[in-house]
Amino acid sequence: MSIHEEESLGKVFDRVLIKRLFAYVWPFRRLMFLSFLSLLLLTAAELAQPVLIKIAIDNNIGQGDFRGLTRTGMFYILALVIAGLGEFGYRYLSAWLGQKMMFTIRVQLFSHIHKLPLSFIDKNPVGRLVTRVTNDIATLNEMLSSGVVAILGDIVVLVGIVIVMVKMNLKLSLITFSVLPLMLAVTGFIRPRLRNAFRTVRLRLARINSYLQENISGMATVQIFNQEEKSSHQFKELNRSYFEAALQGIRMFSLFYPLVSLVTAISTSLIIWYGGGQVIQDALSLGVLVAFMQYIRRFFQPLQDLADKYNNLQAALASSERIFKILDEPEQPTFKAPQKHLVKAAGQIMFDNLSFSYNGTDYVLRDINFDIKPGEKIAIVGATGAGKTSIISLINRLYEPTQGRILLDGVDIAHVDVEELRSRIGIVLQDVFLFSGTVRDNITLGDSTISETAIIKAARRVNAHKFISELENGYDHMLAERGSNLSVGQKQLLSFARALAFNPEILILDEATSSVDTETEQLISSAIHELMKGRTSIIIAHRLSTIRDVDRIIVLHKGIIREMGTHEELMGLQGVYHRLYQLQFRGQAV
Ligand code: UTP
Ligand code: MG
Repeated sequence: MSIHEEESLGKVFDRVLIKRLFAYVWPFRRLMFLSFLSLLLLTAAELAQPVLIKIAIDNNIGQGDFRGLTRTGMFYILALVIAGLGEFGYRYLSAWLGQKMMFTIRVQLFSHIHKLPLSFIDKNPVGRLVTRVTNDIATLNEMLSSGVVAILGDIVVLVGIVIVMVKMNLKLSLITFSVLPLMLAVTGFIRPRLRNAFRTVRLRLARINSYLQENISGMATVQIFNQEEKSSHQFKELNRSYFEAALQGIRMFSLFYPLVSLVTAISTSLIIWYGGGQVIQDALSLGVLVAFMQYIRRFFQPLQDLADKYNNLQAALASSERIFKILDEPEQPTFKAPQKHLVKAAGQIMFDNLSFSYNGTDYVLRDINFDIKPGEKIAIVGATGAGKTSIISLINRLYEPTQGRILLDGVDIAHVDVEELRSRIGIVLQDVFLFSGTVRDNITLGDSTISETAIIKAARRVNAHKFISELENGYDHMLAERGSNLSVGQKQLLSFARALAFNPEILILDEATSSVDTETEQLISSAIHELMKGRTSIIIAHRLSTIRDVDRIIVLHKGIIREMGTHEELMGLQGVYHRLYQLQFRGQAV
């Protein structure tokens, strides 16, 4: 089963679930009550209509009472108006209710996802999380807004009709009810099949969606490897299986309504046949017969609807179960840690016997011990997968150490508020992430306290000003999604400007490995030089020029610090660094 296929239907009357959902409805109980009230109004006005017709036929027309007929007609119009108002109120209020609740849950879910440990995000595909925040909440809305009130409404209508019918004429009522088993049989046969068909349709649609998403975002790769035909072929297959499932659903759906009409017709014929006979024998008034025929239709309607709504309820409960599952994910401990404050930071960083594992079993960092003096510039080098990026994720508390501590100016960062911690540290990540928005917004990240001059100054110092000025609208240039309309080098420089604009005490830079042309390379290295000035810096270095700028080099090898020292010292060791250096930098001018 793929992740898109977790369609397990929750138990319908799961009390814990219902209780929890109720907590969302409760704040809007007045709205819900009003909505229900409107529904009662609507029901009462609709039930009154056949009664009025009966009165018109039997009492007014039958006895030639024209004034009475006019009066009854007035009441009938009144009943129609009330029904209209009731329907408007019910529809409007219940939709409003649903929107309000969706709003609450969506905000809650989104802010909760923000606080989850990154390891949770790593394990859960983006598509799934997006589905939770959109589809599942929408499904839930259907139930919360129309479902609960409407099911209550249907029950009220049914009870009301049965009472009115039985009071009017017991025998005719029993004849009407006699086709109930037939109706239940039809519903019982079609409904489960319809539900299955629709579930399959949903599953296959989800598959189409995820396939589309993957293939469109990976379009470049698809084209480069000439996979268009294969991709189209696979898509065709997915499309066909969706089509077949949909067709099955449509078949059942098309069958359902004629069958229901048939049963209703049987019931109506029985009433006309029996009731008509009674009218001929003067044992029944014509008005009652006409009223009954109207009630029959109204009687079967909610019966059909109930089954529908019951299914919605099931789907909604399944959705809510999935939503609650995310809400129940424990927050990252970061957000709960007892708060200590950083001392006026000088920028001293110490790794104290630190070991770290992403999954709890495989250690990617082991017994890391080092001490960076305030203002010192350190480079971390090592082969790919050595654990370099992991080290900086830990300093930033994106993850928590499995063992050991990281001290910032003597304070264990595990006890420091993340916001405070991160405000001291400027990080440039390996893959630059740009948001859709203007260049300016991408530098300030929406922080309006950063002045225009500061923005331009930062951009100038990291050599980004030139290319930004050349963009259409300059700093107001709109970046496409993920900055896809910029070159790799430009993105890099922009991210430097971002780091510098915040003027952090500590700079951590995960140098991008992608190679750029010599000119850009020079722009980048002089920008890095500029960034490191006057602050404690840790650079994960891939470039010779950057390594030459630093005071000390830490050599990481398979999660262990193997060597530490200046370039000359390490070269003298003739060890890992020497080998890396030979491999990476051979041929480059030193
Ligand atoms: P790093 O991401 O720390 O390696 O992963 P690195 O030194 O920065 O590598 P390059 O130079 O950027 O390529 C260290 C180990 O941690 C695992 C990786 O598989 C790798 O073996 N890892 C990384 C995870 O298990 N989960 C992650 O989210 C990231
Ligand atoms: Mg890395």
